[in-house]
Amino acid sequence: MTLAVFNTVADLRTALRSHRQAGKTIGFIPTMGNLHAGHQQLIRVARQQCDTVVASIFVNPTQFGAGEDFDTYPRTLAADQDKLAEAGCDLLFAPAVADIYPNPAERMRTRVQVSGVSELLCGASRPGHFDGVATVVTKLFHIVQPDRAFFGEKDYQQLAVIRQMVNDLLMPVEIIGVPTVRADDGLALSSRNGYLSGPERQLAPVIQQALQQASRQLQQLPVLNPSDLAAIQQQGRERLMQQGLSVDYFEILGTDLTMPAAGAKQLVILTAARLGTTRLIDNLTVMLGHSPSESRQPVQHRIIAP
Ligand code: PAF
Repeated sequence: MTLAVFNTVADLRTALRSHRQAGKTIGFIPTMGNLHAGHQQLIRVARQQCDTVVASIFVNPTQFGAGEDFDTYPRTLAADQDKLAEAGCDLLFAPAVADIYPNPAERMRTRVQVSGVSELLCGASRPGHFDGVATVVTKLFHIVQPDRAFFGEKDYQQLAVIRQMVNDLLMPVEIIGVPTVRADDGLALSSRNGYLSGPERQLAPVIQQALQQASRQLQQLPVLNPSDLAAIQQQGRERLMQQGLSVDYFEILGTDLTMPAAGAKQLVILTAARLGTTRLIDNLTVMLGHSPSESRQPVQHRIIAP
């Protein structure tokens, strides 16, 4: 499979016009490069569902805050191209910053702001981050005009922001979430894992272990009440802190990232924690109404006001 590479908006649009005119469905995977098996999985899922698969590699300056890793974010274009081709990608769009933000002094003069879901969790600790994500994804959608776009569930909140944006702005694209790909020891694959030292990498699976433990605790509750949820969150935080991580958040929410509703069947536990200087995120969706042991009767969960 040969990968066709385009660096300008005009060239990509010209190339895609013939695919669209031939009635082909277009699948799109936006990335910031430094690709790993998780990105390749997005490509493979898109390959199964669409006739033409387009990926983009663009390290988007507007989603990095001051003092974050924009300058040092790994740029590994040659290796990325091999991985895209191997996974079955047809076209790569790899623009320069000036192609996406033609007015350097006023990059965010016109921006997309997704209120509510953007403001909590990572949005609270990285102000403006999701404005940058929503704005660049809108631009990329306008350039590629995909039928479907594929995002990893590891970035759970990002996926929720994109879904809300597409819904609110009536964008004609279907958003597909793809399950997180993990290393054998449970660590969610992330481009930022490459920043970890040897000992930090050894320790990193504690994040997924803390989520699993909180999930088991939730499943054992006969009813969901706010004080139990708060206690489980606090224990999750402490478990990570005891291992030397600095915890940004460890939260249990409904799958739409609002407070868990009475009778919720599913919850999501989300965490962000710093290991040394590396900020890692992960999440776990928990099915309720069933005890951990399949032999036991389903348990009815409901929220009880404090
Ligand atoms: O998830 C990412 O890599 C980025 O946030 C995205 C969606 C490519 C926007 O820059």
